[in-house]
Amino acid sequence: AQNSIQNQQGPKTAIIDKALLDRILDKNRQSFKEGKVADYIPELGKANASSIALSVVNSDGTIVSIGDVQQRFTIQSISKIVSLMVAVLENGEQNIFDKMGYFGTDKPFNHFANLETSGKPLNPMMNAGAILTTSLIKGTGEEPFLKILHMIRFITNNENIDYSKSVYNSERETGNRNRGMFYLMRNNGLIDGEGEDKLNNYFKQCSIEITAEDLAKIGFFFANHCVRYDGNKQYNNPSLSQLVQSQMLIAGMYEFSGEYARTVGLPSKSGVGGGIAVSVPNKMGIGAYSPALDQHGNSVAAYRMILDLVEEKSLSLF
Ligand code: DON
Repeated sequence: AQNSIQNQQGPKTAIIDKALLDRILDKNRQSFKEGKVADYIPELGKANASSIALSVVNSDGTIVSIGDVQQRFTIQSISKIVSLMVAVLENGEQNIFDKMGYFGTDKPFNHFANLETSGKPLNPMMNAGAILTTSLIKGTGEEPFLKILHMIRFITNNENIDYSKSVYNSERETGNRNRGMFYLMRNNGLIDGEGEDKLNNYFKQCSIEITAEDLAKIGFFFANHCVRYDGNKQYNNPSLSQLVQSQMLIAGMYEFSGEYARTVGLPSKSGVGGGIAVSVPNKMGIGAYSPALDQHGNSVAAYRMILDLVEEKSLSLF
């Protein structure tokens, strides 16, 4: 009995220190060589493949960050959890999920499923669902994007966060697959309004520049009922954090999500910029960065560092 009590209490009280993070980062420093920096958005191809960072916001709100902590990179698909939050707060969950599914996926992030069958995206984590989610945020021109940007600034308590114009332009120039999804969803009656403003909001949200520490704060926020790491309760909303974390768990790592749930066992969201944000429910947030990706579009070294941390501190939900 004593053992089971200890097991339950272990992760709850675990405070991660710098020495452990140093050890984990050193162990995985070279694993970027097994991945490849994304270059389908040409501007992303300029990233330094060997840069690496790891950050944790502990359950008491203290922050430990190591490696290239100043390195900024684009948030990419990790923005999808914040746009989901903004869209649900404005429209209500029902109105969003009338237009898309809660499904997991065996398809890559840029797949058209199920736009040609049910007519609706599988979930808000894949590109199609995320483009639709952002299109459902109210406002003209770049207002929907600005709402997402301001929410990210709030969650990270970092007013300096902005988007990269060069990555944004690169996304626009090469984003014809996303454009195809957008117009198919318009054809299906899911999006109204004209022009490409709505699509541009999605390109801009993906181009927001953050650090590994910002990602740890985002992970912490959704892990803790949408309460900020410094205790700010302005958006306190357990139902919303349950929704966001459930989508992270089943689709945040795309077609790798099932295997990831087996090995890491925590709600997580990756981006092709090389970041992963992790929520340890009711406890901590983890942010990891290394730009070289595996075949699913998930960072190789970030994944391995998270895996080591989770094993070391028994953080898996299961
Ligand atoms: O739309 C795209 O393809 C990118 N802006 C975002 C994709 C992404 O981050 C997928 N995640 N691993």
